[in-house]
Amino acid sequence: MTTGPVNHDLTVLGIETSCDETAAAVVRRDAGGKGVILANVVRTQLDLHAQYGGVVPEIAARAHIDVLDAAIAKALADASLDCNAIDAVAATAGPGLIGGLIVGVTTGKAIAMARGIPFIAVNHLEAHALTAGLTHGLGFPYLLLLVSGGHTQLLIVKDVGSYTRLGTTLDDALGEAFDKAAKLLGLGYPGGPAVEECAKAGTPSVPLPRPMRGRAEPHFSLAGLKTALRHEAMARAPLSEQAVADLCASFQQAAADIVGDRSKRAMEIYLEAMGADAQRALVVAGGVAANQRIRSALGEVAEENGFDLILPPLELCTDNAAMVAWAGAERLARGLVDDLAAPARARWPLDPDAPPALGAGVKA
Ligand code: KG4
Ligand code: ZN
Repeated sequence: MTTGPVNHDLTVLGIETSCDETAAAVVRRDAGGKGVILANVVRTQLDLHAQYGGVVPEIAARAHIDVLDAAIAKALADASLDCNAIDAVAATAGPGLIGGLIVGVTTGKAIAMARGIPFIAVNHLEAHALTAGLTHGLGFPYLLLLVSGGHTQLLIVKDVGSYTRLGTTLDDALGEAFDKAAKLLGLGYPGGPAVEECAKAGTPSVPLPRPMRGRAEPHFSLAGLKTALRHEAMARAPLSEQAVADLCASFQQAAADIVGDRSKRAMEIYLEAMGADAQRALVVAGGVAANQRIRSALGEVAEENGFDLILPPLELCTDNAAMVAWAGAERLARGLVDDLAAPARARWPLDPDAPPALGAGVKA
């Protein structure tokens, strides 16, 4: 559904409930396209899921129901606004866990209907993809690396609503691979921070593969790396503290090498597609962007290829509602709004025209 483009300040309430963060935020976009965050409330459910070593969908959905109303009230209070000052409500409608998505979408629609303002169904991946416009005022086009617990993708961001997927994972997401590695080595959940901390005491001395390195298409595959780690761990059992640290350091180094190699290939394809004069910027989003070794690997390939490495602040790299409100404002400014029949969608690719990636267990 489209309305006319808007050229005045827009204040948007954003709602995020696609995984294990319940979040509400208020963002204002001025007529010139600059954004400012007025409130950003995130209620993580990590402690509810930690004992299971991963997110339990039904527990997540119930927890969203419990805390979403209070998170929205707090966001409005933090922004010193009441509902009357909101121009639109944007809620993540997918992809993600369907129970949680339904909670956020239904709440967003109810507020929009009660207030008589537009509702915007936001694609969670688009919200990550557009964050650099909010945090850095970055214009289009740019290259995006999204590396989280659920997603591992390289995309060209050409404009709002215009994305070309260059690469995806054929099996596990990168954050998921960190989580599984941590579980295997008896470290905590979420695994990424635990592996990174443990790796500090180790050396990357264990031989591990770099799956997909050098392949022409910038896809990822992480299941084989995880299996190789398991074999190396079993060969060293019982594991000393030093052995665990060395395994962590080796796994992290392999992950960093893979991310660097795949991103380098994506930069080449980006320049072929967009022209050598196109803006050279690589934006990184998702929780794995916190990893210092991965950041420095990306810094190196970016420098070698003349790209600026853009790292939004960590709290805006991980799941939050400010990115959802901003994506909603960007869409609203272009007259792109949804009607109240817009569904929650467990699967919702950003680039529906991307050729299917061939491999076992492809998720996106
Ligand atoms: O974006 P995010 O907060 O949530 C979603 O998955 O949507 O990402 C969480 C993922 C987890 O898999 C976590 O293990 C990983 O990001 N992660 C890290 C680090 N911090 C978080 N992976 C590697 N190194 C880290 N320091
Ligand atoms: Zn996310």
